[in-house]
Amino acid sequence: MARVYNFNAGPATLPLEALQEAQKNLVDYENTGLSLIETSHRSKDYDAVHSRATELIRETLGIPSGYAVLFLGGGATLQFGMVPMNLMASGGSADYTNSGSWAKKAIADARKIGTVHTVFDGSESAFTTLPASAMVKSSPDSGYLHITTNETIEGVQWKKFPETDAPLVADMSSDIMSRPVPVDRFGLIYAGAQKNLGPAGVTIVIIREDLLERAPDSLPAYLTYRTHARSDSLYNTPPVFPIYVVKLVLEWIQREGGLTAIAERNTRKAALLYDAIEGSQGFYRCPVDPRYRSEMNVVFRLPSEDLEKAFITEATAAGMIGLKGHRSVGGIRASIYNAMPEEGVAALVSFMSRFREARA
Ligand SMILES: Cc1ncc(COP(=O)(O)O)c(C=O)c1O
Repeated sequence: MARVYNFNAGPATLPLEALQEAQKNLVDYENTGLSLIETSHRSKDYDAVHSRATELIRETLGIPSGYAVLFLGGGATLQFGMVPMNLMASGGSADYTNSGSWAKKAIADARKIGTVHTVFDGSESAFTTLPASAMVKSSPDSGYLHITTNETIEGVQWKKFPETDAPLVADMSSDIMSRPVPVDRFGLIYAGAQKNLGPAGVTIVIIREDLLERAPDSLPAYLTYRTHARSDSLYNTPPVFPIYVVKLVLEWIQREGGLTAIAERNTRKAALLYDAIEGSQGFYRCPVDPRYRSEMNVVFRLPSEDLEKAFITEATAAGMIGLKGHRSVGGIRASIYNAMPEEGVAALVSFMSRFREARA
C-alpha cells in the first residue's frame, strides 16, 4: 500500500510500525482469542498494557517521583475547564499567557471559574511572537500560570519556559514527546494524544501530587484529578484502545533513541522547511518571529490565496495531504510531528521549489 505523506495537524501521522502492530493484534490480542477492545479493563492483559503505557510515559519524559500520570477522556478541551476547577481556589485567580487560538479557549473556560490575569497578550502581534521566558511573572495571589507550549494553529512554540513562583501549567497537546522538557518545573502538564502520541480519545495529565489536594470536594468525581490518581485512571472504563496505541508509539520512540534523538530529528526537519521558506525570495513567507517558530506546525503564506489553493491541490496530487492552514487563519500549515519522516519533509521542500519555479 502506498502511504501518503500526512501533514495534518491532528489526528496526525503515526509511526507505521505502531499501526501495523495494532493491526496485527486487533482481532486476536497476543493469542488470547479475543481483541483487547473486547476485554475487560480490569483484566490481566489490559492491566499489563495500562501499567506499561504509564511507565513508558514516565521513562520517556523523565518524570520525577511525586507526580501522578493520568489517562482521561474529553480531549485537551476538557482540561481547559478541569484545570481551573481543580487548581483555582474558590473565588481565586490564575495567570494565563494568551499565545494563540488554543490559549484563548483555555482562558475563556478559566474565566467561568475564577479571575484570569492575562500576563502576556499575543493578540497585539496577531499571535506571531511570544514573550522572553524571563519576562513572564506570576501575580502574587495566582493559583498557577498557564502556557500553551505550542500553538498548533499559529505555529508559535515556547523554547524556554517561564520560571515562576506559582505552579506552571502547560497545554502540551501539540508538542509533547517532541523534545525533552524539565518536568520538575511544571505543576501540571496535559496533552490530547492525537498528534505525537496516538489516536484521539485519550488525554494524558501529569500532575504534581501536592496539587491533587487543591480540588474542592464539591466537584463531581470525574472532574476531580484526585479521583483518577487514587484509582490509577481506572475509576471508570478508560479509553482502552487509544492507551494501547500510545504504548506502541512510546515503544517506537524508545527504539528511535528517546526524546534527545527525536528532538534532533525534529530540529533538522523544521530547519529544512524554514530554510526553504527563507530561501524563496519572498515567494513563501512565514509570519512567525524566527525565535519562536514551531518545530511541529510550520505555517506560511504564498503571494495570493489563489496560489495557496493551487499549492494544496497540486501537493495533494503529488501525495502530500493535509497542508491547508486552519480555517480561522488560512494559508499553508505543514504539521511535521515525530512520525513524519525526514523524507516526507524533503519531498515537500522539493515540491515547494518546483511549484515556485513553475510560477517564476
Ligand atoms: C494546543 C492544543 N490544545 C488543545 C487542543 C484541543 O484538543 P482536543 O481536540 O483533544 O480537545 C488542540 C487540538 O488540536 C491543540 O492543538
